[in-house]
Amino acid sequence: MRAVTIAGGRISVEDRPDPVPGPGQLLVRVAAAGLNGADMMQLRGLYPAPPGVPADIPGMELAGEVVALGEGSSRHHPGDRVMSLVGGGAQAELAIVDESVAMPAPAALDWPAAGGFPEVFTTAHDALASQCQLQSGERLLVTGAAGGVGTAAVQIGIAIGARVVASVRKPDLRPAMAELGAEVVDPSEAGAHGPYDVVLELVGGPGFEANLPALAPGGRIAVIGVGGGARVALDLLTLMGRRGRVMGSTLRSRSLEEKALTARRVEAELLPLVEAGKLRVIVGEVFTLESAPDAYARFQAGGKMGKIVLISCALATGS
Ligand SMILES: NC(=O)c1ccc[n+]([C@@H]2O[C@H](COP(=O)([O-])OP(=O)(O)OC[C@H]3O[C@@H](n4cnc5c(N)ncnc54)[C@H](OP(=O)(O)O)[C@@H]3O)[C@@H](O)[C@H]2O)c1
Repeated sequence: MRAVTIAGGRISVEDRPDPVPGPGQLLVRVAAAGLNGADMMQLRGLYPAPPGVPADIPGMELAGEVVALGEGSSRHHPGDRVMSLVGGGAQAELAIVDESVAMPAPAALDWPAAGGFPEVFTTAHDALASQCQLQSGERLLVTGAAGGVGTAAVQIGIAIGARVVASVRKPDLRPAMAELGAEVVDPSEAGAHGPYDVVLELVGGPGFEANLPALAPGGRIAVIGVGGGARVALDLLTLMGRRGRVMGSTLRSRSLEEKALTARRVEAELLPLVEAGKLRVIVGEVFTLESAPDAYARFQAGGKMGKIVLISCALATGS
């Protein structure tokens, strides 16, 4: 099979042996695989793949067709359209998926959208619904909102019934963000638009400090991304005064069982909204698997709206 590979800090596309599914696993012919910040970190040698997945083939999410089952697999069947989180190895023509984490790919999503769904919608839903328990009528701030997780979070927040403020630094992306239903602000102004019951922190750094005073009483902050800096001066007095809570989490490091639980919640709570057309995967740009180096360069350049997705075969281009 053809696969995106990382070696010595460089991206290339090479031939690799076809993978073989083990017990409880599926072999999936990948139609589309989203790029994520974690892939960029892996390229820089900062985020090695966890044990049990290909060390040099990146990619943490995919959509495609099941072509073979490992021993004891019964939740999905050959020919099924699935989408899934994976620990790595998604950016290839074939990939191994643990069947407990795989979800059906709804007919409402074409292949690029399905390939860009699992990582960002699972992350956003886990942070907003499971950790912060965002409620209808609450005010939500999403920082770094124009990216993959942000565009998912804004829509999930609105679907929950929250009033959503989206901070977006690139002015030309703000009209598209407003179309999703959010009040859009420059990051420097987010603090002045509070109070916020929930802050989804996708940037970290100085914005975290500036936005803390805008937390409403009982407010919750979920720290999911720290591209703007991982160290902040935390004003504990302000946190106490707001009776605030700060939470952090990563998805990739979770056990298979924990990932399966997030998949079941996404299936139950988000896929019906996808089918009803109430949630969309914002796919900014699509690249072929063979042009993966260009896709990585585009992701690193910043200023995109939503997801960058690789499509890998006739399955995707024919959809
Ligand atoms: N914890 C987890 O499990 C988990 C899961 C998924 C993602 N993440 C992390 O969460 C973050 C968001 O993920 P994503 O997929 O949405 O990434 P993304 O698509 O790259 O989006 C990041 C957004 O943040 C903006 N941004 C970055 N630095 C900024 C700064 N200093 N000030 C203002 N805005 C800034 C970007 O704007 P520009 O385009 O202008 O740069 C972009 O709109 C990333 O750091 C990612 O690694 C964590």
